[in-house]
Amino acid sequence: MKNKLEQIRKEAMEALGGLHDLGQLEEFRVKKLGKKGELTQVLRGMGSLPPEERPIIGQLANEIRNELEEGLRKRTAALKQAAMEKQLEAETIDVTIPGKRPVLGKLHPITKVLNELTEIFLGMGFDIAEGPEVEWDSYNFEALNIPKNHPARDVQDTFYINENMLLRTHTSPVQIRTMLRQKPPIKIICPGRVYRSDAVDATHSPIFHQIEGLVVDRNITMGDLKGVLDVFAKKVFGPGTRTKFRPHHFPFTEPSAEVDVTCAICHGEGCRICSHTGWIEILGAGMVHPKVLQYCGIDPEVYSGFAFGMGLDRITNLKYGIDDIRLLFENDIRFLKQF
Ligand code: DAH
Repeated sequence: MKNKLEQIRKEAMEALGGLHDLGQLEEFRVKKLGKKGELTQVLRGMGSLPPEERPIIGQLANEIRNELEEGLRKRTAALKQAAMEKQLEAETIDVTIPGKRPVLGKLHPITKVLNELTEIFLGMGFDIAEGPEVEWDSYNFEALNIPKNHPARDVQDTFYINENMLLRTHTSPVQIRTMLRQKPPIKIICPGRVYRSDAVDATHSPIFHQIEGLVVDRNITMGDLKGVLDVFAKKVFGPGTRTKFRPHHFPFTEPSAEVDVTCAICHGEGCRICSHTGWIEILGAGMVHPKVLQYCGIDPEVYSGFAFGMGLDRITNLKYGIDDIRLLFENDIRFLKQF
Protein backbone atom coordinates (compact mmCIF):
# COMPACT_ATOMS: atom_id res chain seq x y z
CA MET A 1 0.00 0.00 0.00
CA LYS A 2 2.80 2.30 0.88
CA ASN A 3 4.40 1.57 -2.49
CA LYS A 4 1.14 2.31 -4.25
CA LEU A 5 0.90 5.67 -2.49
CA GLU A 6 4.50 6.53 -3.31
CA GLN A 7 3.76 5.55 -6.90
CA ILE A 8 0.78 7.93 -6.99
CA ARG A 9 2.89 10.72 -5.53
CA LYS A 10 5.67 10.24 -8.04
CA GLU A 11 3.41 10.05 -11.08
CA ALA A 12 1.27 12.97 -9.98
CA MET A 13 4.17 15.30 -9.26
CA GLU A 14 5.69 14.50 -12.64
CA ALA A 15 2.42 14.96 -14.53
CA LEU A 16 1.72 18.28 -12.86
CA GLY A 17 4.54 20.06 -14.70
CA GLY A 18 3.07 19.05 -18.06
CA LEU A 19 -0.33 20.69 -17.52
CA HIS A 20 -0.87 23.93 -19.39
CA ASP A 21 -4.37 25.16 -18.79
CA LEU A 22 -6.77 25.53 -15.93
CA GLY A 23 -9.18 22.96 -17.36
CA GLN A 24 -6.48 20.30 -17.38
CA LEU A 25 -5.58 21.18 -13.79
CA GLU A 26 -9.16 20.68 -12.60
CA GLU A 27 -9.37 17.36 -14.44
CA PHE A 28 -6.14 16.38 -12.76
CA ARG A 29 -7.44 17.33 -9.31
CA VAL A 30 -10.58 15.21 -9.75
CA LYS A 31 -8.59 12.27 -11.07
CA LYS A 32 -6.08 12.28 -8.22
CA LEU A 33 -7.86 13.75 -5.21
CA GLY A 34 -11.59 13.50 -6.01
CA LYS A 35 -14.08 11.19 -4.23
CA LYS A 36 -13.44 8.54 -6.86
CA GLY A 37 -9.84 9.66 -7.34
CA GLU A 38 -6.75 7.45 -7.14
CA LEU A 39 -5.84 8.46 -3.61
CA THR A 40 -9.29 7.75 -2.19
CA GLN A 41 -9.35 4.48 -4.06
CA VAL A 42 -6.17 3.32 -2.31
CA LEU A 43 -7.32 4.51 1.09
CA ARG A 44 -10.51 2.44 0.76
CA GLY A 45 -8.31 -0.61 1.21
CA MET A 46 -7.08 0.63 4.64
CA GLY A 47 -9.54 -1.62 6.43
CA SER A 48 -7.57 -4.68 5.49
CA LEU A 49 -4.36 -3.33 7.08
CA PRO A 50 -3.13 -4.37 10.51
CA PRO A 51 -4.22 -1.64 12.99
CA GLU A 52 -0.69 -0.50 13.80
CA GLU A 53 0.03 0.31 10.17
CA ARG A 54 -3.11 2.34 9.63
CA PRO A 55 -1.91 5.63 11.21
CA ILE A 56 1.33 5.43 9.28
CA ILE A 57 -0.45 4.95 5.98
CA GLY A 58 -3.04 7.56 6.95
CA GLN A 59 -0.32 10.07 7.68
CA LEU A 60 1.45 9.32 4.44
CA ALA A 61 -1.80 9.73 2.51
CA ASN A 62 -2.39 13.11 4.16
CA GLU A 63 1.10 14.18 3.33
CA ILE A 64 0.61 13.26 -0.28
CA ARG A 65 -2.76 14.99 -0.42
CA ASN A 66 -1.24 18.17 1.02
CA GLU A 67 1.67 17.94 -1.33
CA LEU A 68 -0.57 17.53 -4.38
CA GLU A 69 -2.86 20.34 -3.28
CA GLU A 70 0.10 22.62 -2.80
CA GLY A 71 1.45 21.58 -6.22
CA LEU A 72 -1.90 22.29 -7.84
CA ARG A 73 -2.12 25.68 -6.15
CA LYS A 74 1.34 26.68 -7.33
CA ARG A 75 0.72 25.42 -10.86
CA THR A 76 -2.59 27.27 -11.05
CA ALA A 77 -0.97 30.47 -9.85
CA ALA A 78 1.84 30.07 -12.38
CA LEU A 79 -0.57 29.52 -15.27
CA LYS A 80 -2.69 32.51 -14.25
CA GLN A 81 0.40 34.67 -14.00
CA ALA A 82 1.59 33.56 -17.45
CA ALA A 83 -1.83 34.26 -18.97
CA MET A 84 -1.89 37.71 -17.41
CA GLU A 85 1.58 38.53 -18.71
CA LYS A 86 0.61 37.39 -22.17
CA GLN A 87 -2.48 39.57 -22.14
CA LEU A 88 -0.59 42.60 -20.88
CA GLU A 89 1.97 42.17 -23.58
CA ALA A 90 -0.70 41.88 -26.28
CA GLU A 91 -2.46 44.99 -25.00
CA THR A 92 0.47 47.31 -24.59
CA ILE A 93 0.04 50.64 -26.30
CA ASP A 94 3.07 52.32 -27.75
CA VAL A 95 2.28 55.96 -27.05
CA THR A 96 5.30 57.07 -29.03
CA ILE A 97 3.95 55.85 -32.41
CA PRO A 98 2.92 58.89 -34.53
CA GLY A 99 -0.88 59.36 -34.85
CA LYS A 100 -2.87 58.77 -38.03
CA ARG A 101 -3.85 61.97 -39.77
CA PRO A 102 -7.58 62.05 -40.65
CA VAL A 103 -8.11 62.56 -44.39
CA LEU A 104 -9.97 65.83 -44.94
CA GLY A 105 -12.62 65.92 -47.66
CA LYS A 106 -12.66 68.74 -50.20
CA LEU A 107 -15.27 70.39 -52.36
CA HIS A 108 -15.59 68.99 -55.87
CA PRO A 109 -14.30 71.45 -58.51
CA ILE A 110 -17.81 71.72 -59.97
CA THR A 111 -19.18 72.62 -56.54
CA LYS A 112 -16.45 75.21 -56.07
CA VAL A 113 -17.16 76.87 -59.41
CA LEU A 114 -20.92 76.65 -58.84
CA ASN A 115 -20.50 78.41 -55.49
CA GLU A 116 -18.34 81.08 -57.07
CA LEU A 117 -20.74 81.75 -59.97
CA THR A 118 -23.75 81.73 -57.65
CA GLU A 119 -22.07 84.34 -55.44
CA ILE A 120 -21.50 86.58 -58.46
CA PHE A 121 -25.16 86.48 -59.50
CA LEU A 122 -26.44 86.86 -55.94
CA GLY A 123 -24.23 89.97 -55.79
CA MET A 124 -26.09 91.33 -58.84
CA GLY A 125 -29.46 90.78 -57.17
CA PHE A 126 -30.48 87.43 -58.67
CA ASP A 127 -32.47 84.84 -56.70
CA ILE A 128 -31.90 81.10 -57.02
CA ALA A 129 -34.67 78.94 -58.47
CA GLU A 130 -34.67 75.18 -58.82
CA GLY A 131 -36.68 72.63 -60.75
CA PRO A 132 -36.96 68.86 -61.03
CA GLU A 133 -34.57 66.75 -63.09
CA VAL A 134 -37.47 64.57 -64.23
CA GLU A 135 -39.45 67.07 -66.27
CA TRP A 136 -42.57 67.32 -68.44
CA ASP A 137 -41.96 67.28 -72.18
CA SER A 138 -44.19 70.33 -72.32
CA TYR A 139 -41.94 72.41 -70.04
CA ASN A 140 -38.65 71.11 -71.43
CA PHE A 141 -39.69 71.70 -75.07
CA GLU A 142 -43.20 72.86 -75.93
CA ALA A 143 -43.39 75.92 -73.66
CA LEU A 144 -39.94 76.92 -74.89
CA ASN A 145 -41.27 77.11 -78.43
CA ILE A 146 -39.91 73.72 -79.45
CA PRO A 147 -42.95 71.83 -80.74
CA LYS A 148 -42.99 68.10 -81.53
CA ASN A 149 -40.92 67.31 -84.63
CA HIS A 150 -38.95 70.54 -84.27
CA PRO A 151 -35.34 69.91 -85.39
CA ALA A 152 -34.03 71.41 -82.13
CA ARG A 153 -35.24 68.23 -80.42
CA ASP A 154 -32.78 66.15 -82.40
CA VAL A 155 -29.85 68.22 -81.18
CA GLN A 156 -30.78 67.38 -77.60
CA ASP A 157 -30.75 63.58 -77.58
CA THR A 158 -33.34 63.06 -74.93
CA PHE A 159 -33.79 60.34 -72.33
CA TYR A 160 -37.56 59.83 -72.32
CA ILE A 161 -39.32 58.35 -69.29
CA ASN A 162 -42.57 58.06 -71.24
CA GLU A 163 -44.32 60.04 -73.96
CA ASN A 164 -44.83 63.08 -71.74
CA MET A 165 -41.97 62.83 -69.29
CA LEU A 166 -38.21 63.01 -69.69
CA LEU A 167 -34.92 63.80 -68.01
CA ARG A 168 -34.52 67.53 -68.61
CA THR A 169 -32.04 68.26 -71.38
CA HIS A 170 -31.37 71.79 -70.14
CA THR A 171 -32.22 74.07 -67.20
CA SER A 172 -34.47 76.24 -69.40
CA PRO A 173 -37.72 74.58 -68.16
CA VAL A 174 -37.06 76.24 -64.79
CA GLN A 175 -37.69 79.55 -66.63
CA ILE A 176 -41.17 78.28 -67.45
CA ARG A 177 -41.86 77.01 -63.93
CA THR A 178 -40.75 80.34 -62.49
CA MET A 179 -42.80 82.49 -64.86
CA LEU A 180 -45.92 80.35 -64.31
CA ARG A 181 -45.57 80.85 -60.56
CA GLN A 182 -44.33 84.41 -60.29
CA LYS A 183 -45.12 87.62 -62.15
CA PRO A 184 -42.43 90.20 -63.11
CA PRO A 185 -40.11 91.55 -61.95
CA ILE A 186 -38.24 88.24 -62.16
CA LYS A 187 -34.49 87.91 -61.73
CA ILE A 188 -33.29 84.37 -61.19
CA ILE A 189 -30.56 81.88 -61.91
CA CYS A 190 -31.29 78.13 -61.97
CA PRO A 191 -28.30 75.84 -61.47
CA GLY A 192 -28.77 72.13 -61.95
CA ARG A 193 -27.99 68.81 -63.50
CA VAL A 194 -29.13 68.01 -67.03
CA TYR A 195 -29.12 64.86 -69.15
CA ARG A 196 -28.52 64.00 -72.79
CA SER A 197 -28.05 60.62 -74.37
CA ASP A 198 -24.58 61.48 -75.67
CA ALA A 199 -21.74 59.00 -76.12
CA VAL A 200 -19.05 59.67 -73.52
CA ASP A 201 -15.82 61.27 -74.72
CA ALA A 202 -13.44 64.02 -73.62
CA THR A 203 -16.06 66.73 -74.21
CA HIS A 204 -19.36 64.85 -73.75
CA SER A 205 -21.04 63.30 -70.75
CA PRO A 206 -24.65 62.09 -70.48
CA ILE A 207 -24.89 64.04 -67.21
CA PHE A 208 -23.67 67.59 -66.99
CA HIS A 209 -24.49 70.88 -65.32
CA GLN A 210 -25.96 74.17 -66.45
CA ILE A 211 -26.79 77.52 -64.98
CA GLU A 212 -29.78 79.26 -66.49
CA GLY A 213 -30.46 82.95 -66.05
CA LEU A 214 -33.72 84.83 -66.54
CA VAL A 215 -34.64 88.48 -66.08
CA VAL A 216 -38.13 89.72 -66.94
CA ASP A 217 -39.45 93.23 -66.28
CA ARG A 218 -40.59 96.35 -68.09
CA ASN A 219 -38.03 97.80 -70.51
CA ILE A 220 -35.46 95.01 -70.31
CA THR A 221 -33.13 95.24 -73.31
CA MET A 222 -30.26 93.44 -74.98
CA GLY A 223 -28.06 96.13 -73.39
CA ASP A 224 -29.00 94.80 -69.93
CA LEU A 225 -28.08 91.29 -71.04
CA LYS A 226 -24.72 92.47 -72.37
CA GLY A 227 -24.05 94.41 -69.17
CA VAL A 228 -24.81 91.49 -66.84
CA LEU A 229 -22.74 89.01 -68.87
CA ASP A 230 -19.84 91.43 -69.13
CA VAL A 231 -19.65 91.90 -65.36
CA PHE A 232 -20.03 88.15 -64.94
CA ALA A 233 -17.19 87.32 -67.39
CA LYS A 234 -14.80 89.81 -65.79
CA LYS A 235 -15.46 88.40 -62.32
CA VAL A 236 -14.97 84.78 -63.42
CA PHE A 237 -12.07 85.09 -65.86
CA GLY A 238 -10.35 88.28 -64.73
CA PRO A 239 -10.80 92.05 -65.16
CA GLY A 240 -9.23 92.16 -68.64
CA THR A 241 -11.84 89.78 -70.06
CA ARG A 242 -14.05 91.00 -72.95
CA THR A 243 -17.27 89.45 -74.29
CA LYS A 244 -18.44 89.09 -77.86
CA PHE A 245 -22.00 88.34 -79.02
CA ARG A 246 -22.33 86.25 -82.18
CA PRO A 247 -25.77 85.99 -83.82
CA HIS A 248 -27.24 82.53 -83.30
CA HIS A 249 -30.60 80.79 -83.15
CA PHE A 250 -32.49 79.37 -80.20
CA PRO A 251 -36.24 78.73 -80.48
CA PHE A 252 -36.91 80.32 -77.07
CA THR A 253 -35.10 83.62 -77.64
CA GLU A 254 -35.32 86.28 -80.34
CA PRO A 255 -32.84 87.64 -81.13
CA SER A 256 -30.39 85.00 -79.92
CA ALA A 257 -26.64 85.02 -79.52
CA GLU A 258 -23.75 82.82 -78.61
CA VAL A 259 -21.43 84.59 -76.23
CA ASP A 260 -17.64 84.30 -76.36
CA VAL A 261 -15.10 85.53 -73.83
CA THR A 262 -11.47 86.34 -74.55
CA CYS A 263 -9.40 83.23 -73.87
CA ALA A 264 -8.27 83.26 -70.24
CA ILE A 265 -5.19 81.21 -71.13
CA CYS A 266 -3.67 83.37 -73.90
CA HIS A 267 -5.66 86.60 -73.28
CA GLY A 268 -6.73 86.75 -76.90
CA GLU A 269 -3.36 85.96 -78.47
CA GLY A 270 -4.49 82.55 -79.75
CA CYS A 271 -3.55 79.18 -78.25
CA ARG A 272 -4.44 75.49 -78.33
CA ILE A 273 -7.33 75.89 -75.86
CA CYS A 274 -9.12 78.53 -77.99
CA SER A 275 -8.17 76.86 -81.29
CA HIS A 276 -5.99 79.91 -82.03
CA THR A 277 -8.98 82.26 -82.28
CA GLY A 278 -8.41 84.14 -79.02
CA TRP A 279 -12.09 83.56 -78.11
CA ILE A 280 -13.94 80.86 -76.19
CA GLU A 281 -17.68 80.25 -76.40
CA ILE A 282 -19.18 79.95 -72.92
CA LEU A 283 -22.94 80.41 -73.23
CA GLY A 284 -26.11 80.93 -75.22
CA ALA A 285 -28.41 83.88 -74.61
CA GLY A 286 -31.05 86.13 -76.05
CA MET A 287 -34.26 88.07 -75.51
CA VAL A 288 -37.06 85.82 -74.26
CA HIS A 289 -39.31 84.95 -77.21
CA PRO A 290 -42.77 86.61 -77.02
CA LYS A 291 -44.38 83.17 -77.43
CA VAL A 292 -42.60 81.92 -74.31
CA LEU A 293 -43.78 84.91 -72.27
CA GLN A 294 -47.31 84.40 -73.62
CA TYR A 295 -47.34 80.70 -72.71
CA CYS A 296 -46.60 81.73 -69.11
CA GLY A 297 -49.33 84.39 -69.04
CA ILE A 298 -46.95 87.36 -69.25
CA ASP A 299 -47.94 90.09 -71.73
CA PRO A 300 -45.07 90.60 -74.22
CA GLU A 301 -46.46 94.04 -75.05
CA VAL A 302 -45.79 95.14 -71.46
CA TYR A 303 -42.83 93.03 -70.41
CA SER A 304 -39.61 91.89 -71.99
CA GLY A 305 -36.79 89.78 -70.71
CA PHE A 306 -33.46 88.20 -71.40
CA ALA A 307 -32.23 84.69 -70.71
CA PHE A 308 -28.97 82.83 -70.86
CA GLY A 309 -27.71 79.32 -70.30
CA MET A 310 -24.19 78.14 -69.66
CA GLY A 311 -22.42 74.83 -69.15
CA LEU A 312 -20.89 74.63 -65.71
CA ASP A 313 -18.60 71.73 -66.55
CA ARG A 314 -17.04 73.61 -69.44
CA ILE A 315 -16.41 76.70 -67.33
CA THR A 316 -14.89 74.51 -64.59
CA ASN A 317 -12.56 72.91 -67.13
CA LEU A 318 -11.56 76.31 -68.51
CA LYS A 319 -10.89 77.76 -65.08
CA TYR A 320 -8.74 74.84 -63.92
CA GLY A 321 -7.20 73.84 -67.24
CA ILE A 322 -8.86 70.39 -67.20
CA ASP A 323 -8.88 68.86 -70.66
CA ASP A 324 -11.27 65.93 -70.20
CA ILE A 325 -14.82 66.22 -68.84
CA ARG A 326 -14.73 62.57 -67.72
CA LEU A 327 -12.34 63.52 -64.93
CA LEU A 328 -15.16 65.52 -63.33
CA PHE A 329 -17.35 62.43 -63.01
CA GLU A 330 -14.90 59.61 -62.29
CA ASN A 331 -14.16 61.00 -58.82
CA ASP A 332 -10.64 59.64 -58.69
CA ILE A 333 -9.26 60.87 -55.37
CA ARG A 334 -5.86 61.57 -56.93
CA PHE A 335 -7.55 64.01 -59.31
CA LEU A 336 -9.91 65.60 -56.78
CA LYS A 337 -7.13 66.13 -54.22
CA GLN A 338 -5.58 68.80 -56.43
CA PHE A 339 -8.33 71.37 -55.95
N1 DAH B 1 -30.93 75.82 -73.20
C1 DAH B 1 -29.81 76.04 -74.08
C2 DAH B 1 -29.01 74.74 -74.20
O1 DAH B 1 -29.11 73.90 -73.38
C3 DAH B 1 -28.91 77.10 -73.53
C4 DAH B 1 -29.57 78.43 -73.59
C5 DAH B 1 -29.40 79.24 -74.70
C6 DAH B 1 -30.38 78.86 -72.58
C7 DAH B 1 -30.03 80.47 -74.79
C8 DAH B 1 -30.99 80.11 -72.64
C9 DAH B 1 -30.81 80.90 -73.75
O2 DAH B 1 -31.77 80.57 -71.66
O3 DAH B 1 -31.41 82.12 -73.82
O4 DAH B 1 -28.28 74.61 -75.16
